[in-house]
Amino acid sequence: MLEKFERYPLTFGPSPIEKLGRLTEHLGGRVDLYAKREDCNSGLAFGGNKVRKLEYIVPDAIASNADTLVTIGGVQSNHTRQVAAVAAKIGMKCRLVQESWVPFEDAVYDRVGNILMSRVLGAEIEMVDEGFDIGIRESWERALEDVKAKGGKPYAIPAGASVHKYGGLGFVGFAEEVRTQEEALGIRFDYIVVCTVTGSTHAGMLVGFAKDGRADRVIGIDASGTLDQTRAQVMDIARNTADLVELEHDITDDDLVLIEDYAYPAYGVPSPETNDAIRLAARMEGMMTDPVYEGKSMQGMIDLVQKGYFPEGSKVLYAHLGGVPAINGYSYIYRNG
Ligand SMILES: Cc1ncc(COP(=O)(O)O)c(C=O)c1O
Repeated sequence: MLEKFERYPLTFGPSPIEKLGRLTEHLGGRVDLYAKREDCNSGLAFGGNKVRKLEYIVPDAIASNADTLVTIGGVQSNHTRQVAAVAAKIGMKCRLVQESWVPFEDAVYDRVGNILMSRVLGAEIEMVDEGFDIGIRESWERALEDVKAKGGKPYAIPAGASVHKYGGLGFVGFAEEVRTQEEALGIRFDYIVVCTVTGSTHAGMLVGFAKDGRADRVIGIDASGTLDQTRAQVMDIARNTADLVELEHDITDDDLVLIEDYAYPAYGVPSPETNDAIRLAARMEGMMTDPVYEGKSMQGMIDLVQKGYFPEGSKVLYAHLGGVPAINGYSYIYRNG
């Protein structure tokens, strides 16, 4: 589906798929759980889902003769850390706007984890006291202007690399990769569980899995807490991406499954149930997840298995999209494990 697009390799290759055997058994063994480890996809500052998206964006950035990647996220944004690492790898500068998206106080929230790495990676960081919003932000537009005013050539990457013309392509590639891995493993996944916030991960999967009739088998677990805006953004990106790859079917509203039940109490703030899910995945599989994104989709997957949402015998693929560095910003919650 992606042959005509240029790709700049930033990942190690296909991300591994592993069986979550102990978690499967712990939850009763009626549904087989697997994980595709996007959290181990690259050597670029711990990798994650943005690296896969950026593989299709970097060629455009290089062709534009830009010298500075400019992007935005929350204080503990995984996305900004991955853009900082990619900028270093391709020899560009990086300007990051970090907004106060998360109503959460930990003594060193703005010192550790993702933001620590972004600083070490050499990014120029501007802290802005604005709340959560997955849309286009004024602070980011001002940063783009500021780079220009200082004689630089900015390249604009919106939050999560999502509302970018090529933002959905990386996860079309994820679906293609899954199909190849399914052949090698001799299995076919009935459901794919994904955490959804800025939308291009889910949107790319919708398009990629539409090819074999599985668009509505992508189960999005919302972690934004702004469901309507996220739904609309996923659909826009999916339609744009479907046009780009000349998908033969239309993507309809019915294709989008996005479950809002696990986003509480707010974006970036874990509930006690999210924390239980993080501990369970860690203790059953040695697999770390984070309190902002993957802990919520892990909680969702566990709850859906327990509720019997997936028919007996289903094979469920959990897309582990990365994000573990942020857990350092939540040290008080996990002080006793
Ligand atoms: C670890 C992690 N999981 C899930 C997501 C959600 O992906 P998207 O923003 O493409 O919806 C993000 C980024 O927002 C993330 O960093």
